[in-house]
Amino acid sequence: MHTLAVDIGGSGVKVMVLDEAGKPLTERSRVETPQPALPEPVIGAIASLAAGTGEFDRVSVGFPGVVTNGVIKTAVNLTPEWVDFDLATALSEKLGKPVRVINDADMQGLGAISGKGVELTITLGTGFGSGLFVDGKLVPNLEAGHHPFRKGETYEEQLGRAALDKIGQKRWNSRLGKAIAQLQKLFNCEYLYIGGGNTKKVTIDLPPNVKIVPNVSGLLGGIALWRD
Ligand code: BGC
Repeated sequence: MHTLAVDIGGSGVKVMVLDEAGKPLTERSRVETPQPALPEPVIGAIASLAAGTGEFDRVSVGFPGVVTNGVIKTAVNLTPEWVDFDLATALSEKLGKPVRVINDADMQGLGAISGKGVELTITLGTGFGSGLFVDGKLVPNLEAGHHPFRKGETYEEQLGRAALDKIGQKRWNSRLGKAIAQLQKLFNCEYLYIGGGNTKKVTIDLPPNVKIVPNVSGLLGGIALWRD
């Protein structure tokens, strides 16, 4: 049973095939996210990546917004056309395989967590993603990114890609340190995992229970969607 794991991001769409145990069978391949990132061209981008990647039997997608039963509920960093779009059904029709869709930060977390206690994942990319787990079980729809953080701005406004481009790496890192401290006060988690493309910009020393996870965790988590 091979799983095609897909990570839809604000700047790139990435795929990789995983074996039954969740180990990668292929390299990660990536294309730029079509602009504007409407449902049809994004599905087209996934289909063309899938065509070049070899055989697979099912598909797991990490999507940058709230997802309920395969249907997109929010997509603030893509386009409004995604709201109420049934991505699981549309992609399944396109690829001819069963498809499951989950929030991107939740998928990242599933690829990173130990499964013990309270664990939080945040992702630093175009947006600010978050995923919360209790003894390995996902608490769905945590959207810390759109929660107030400081100076009248949300975590995403203070730490998303636009903020990084605007204020530069040094100030962004100092904000990140404050965000970690703030989230720790709220969740008191055993581990906090940080993923996403902008982790390469992190220069601050992290507390011992905070770990940067490789970007590939966003795809490796795809296997967990079929564990029932
Ligand atoms: C979305 C989240 C997503 C995050 C990272 C946020 O804007 O609301 O659902 O996980 O961006 O892509």
